[in-house]
Amino acid sequence: MAQAAQKEEISFPPELIAFIDEWKVKPGSLIMILHKTQETYGYISRAAAEQLSLLTGIPLARIYGVITFYHFFKTTKPGKHKISVCMGTACYLKGGQDLLEEARSLLGISGGEVSEDGLFSVDQVRCVGCCGLAPVMVIDNDTYGKLTKEMLPGIIAKYRS
Ligand code: FES
Repeated sequence: MAQAAQKEEISFPPELIAFIDEWKVKPGSLIMILHKTQETYGYISRAAAEQLSLLTGIPLARIYGVITFYHFFKTTKPGKHKISVCMGTACYLKGGQDLLEEARSLLGISGGEVSEDGLFSVDQVRCVGCCGLAPVMVIDNDTYGKLTKEMLPGIIAKYRS
């Protein structure tokens, strides 16, 4: 007989629970609560969303409506190294899309997903504030500018070791 899928349990840290208690009575609180939850875990898992629904009384469907509307919110655990490819106007015009596709292809992943080894996730972001270096990519806290596709394998290799 097939076993029912085990439901993932999550227990929020006291600081997050206190934050939710403080904010849930304020108008427009859901966004703030979701930000805090993502700050705590790096993403918002199904179990976390269910727990939020329980603690706030906000229907799960509404929580998912907000999570999926704003690209900022992640529903999957990010990779150990977060690669952000800038798709602001300057970077886009100088080949940002090619960089994004090359990075995903090198790592074997598509948008919002994580490489199989859990080491990398790739996202596109808006202007990161150094347009003079376009096209730009950020890995963790390191910024790389004036990039070409050919430079990506060497840069990514540094984060594998
Ligand atoms: S558009 Fe990419 S850094 Fe500004």
